[in-house]
Amino acid sequence: MGGPQRKNLPLIGDVSEKLGLNLGRLPDIANVGMRHLAGEARDALWVQTGGKVDVTKPRRFYGILNERCNLKCQGCDYWRREHYVDEMSAEEWIRVLAEIKDFVGPFHINFSGGEPLLKHGLFDILNYCRDNDILAGMTSNAIILRERQAKQLVEAQLFSLNISLDGFKPETHDLQRGVKGSHKGVLRTIELMEDHSKATGIPIPLVIKPTVSKINFREMPEIVKLVADMGVNGILFQPVSDWGTDEIDNLWITEIDELQRVVDELLELKRQGYPILSADWHLQDWVRHFKKDTRTDLQVGADGVQCWVGLTTFVIKTDGTIVNCHTLDPIGNVQKQSVRDIWYGPTGKERRAETVKCTIACSENCNIKRTVKQNVEGALRLLRN
Ligand SMILES: C[S@@+](CC[C@H](N)C(=O)[O-])C[C@H]1O[C@@H](n2cnc3c(N)ncnc32)[C@H](O)[C@@H]1O
Ligand code: SF4
Ligand code: SF4
Repeated sequence: MGGPQRKNLPLIGDVSEKLGLNLGRLPDIANVGMRHLAGEARDALWVQTGGKVDVTKPRRFYGILNERCNLKCQGCDYWRREHYVDEMSAEEWIRVLAEIKDFVGPFHINFSGGEPLLKHGLFDILNYCRDNDILAGMTSNAIILRERQAKQLVEAQLFSLNISLDGFKPETHDLQRGVKGSHKGVLRTIELMEDHSKATGIPIPLVIKPTVSKINFREMPEIVKLVADMGVNGILFQPVSDWGTDEIDNLWITEIDELQRVVDELLELKRQGYPILSADWHLQDWVRHFKKDTRTDLQVGADGVQCWVGLTTFVIKTDGTIVNCHTLDPIGNVQKQSVRDIWYGPTGKERRAETVKCTIACSENCNIKRTVKQNVEGALRLLRN
């Protein structure tokens, strides 16, 4: 695969420097943004006809590249698995990405794992995206094994790199992540990437992603201020969910009044302009989530739709299995069927009807239907140099 190809145009570069934005990605983002708008029109047709006219197409793509990991997080079960499912090779991933592009046009995908930095051929996949108008993001624990990886991450020109940071204090992060020294490792990776970014002029849009738990929730305002000082593009919170680990009681927040005070402080920091990317309603929803209150009216649209994942979301698991949401049965496998056949097949259609009625009050970021204004604000944050 060749070197980086997507560069700021000289004129755009001048303007972006003045505005503090990386406008070189603007055409890609505008393209994907237009497709989201068109997608919403197709969703509306599906809703209005009760699913009889189905011209929906997926537009939220997630790729779980592997299950292996080098940390031992208390809330996560990947590292405890005795057997890992078969991994699609980098070549197979690239074939699937090309097929998706044929089906939907330029798109945005977020890669995760396990730990994606351990995936053999990772940079072949990311560089394929870079060179083929596919906006790639990635979520990582940022424990790099070699300095070269930090440079490759910058050169892959990701749309966003979400880095999990679970504590302001090193001991808090290391306790939740189960490996001493991991906090130091994250900060070193960020520094290496920023150095290479400055040296090459290639921006690296970093988003800090804390998983909020009993161990760390009091430190969230300090993490926000740290992130702002570091000049990182933004912070996106994820409240811990019960992934069936033995340690979930260590992580589940029961100090609800204190949690409410933290939420209020975060909302105030956001109002003051700190780069918090999480929607206000999502922050306010933490209290309901940790009280295990299953009643939710936050996600129900005026059209009565509870959840849009069946109309919008395509999660490609490690072995090619496709789901709309991790709690539901698969709709197919890209190793055996075409992307189009999976989406319009009977199981895909069945799942659409199921998800729009789903009443599980889930607090996963992936099922939020953001407003156009929220999408634009989020994209502008990521364009910041
Ligand atoms: C499964 S990890 C995979 C990517 C990478 N290994 C990492 O840790 O960033 C994706 C995200 O899930 C978060 N996570 C882990 N356990 C969780 C839980 N029980 N509930 C919600 N999020 C969780 C992680 O902190 C991370 O931000
Ligand atoms: S959250 Fe990420 S880093 Fe932690 S064990 Fe799970 S996959 Fe590994
Ligand atoms: S509401 Fe949550 S659990 Fe239900 S289908 Fe949507 S994403 Fe899945």
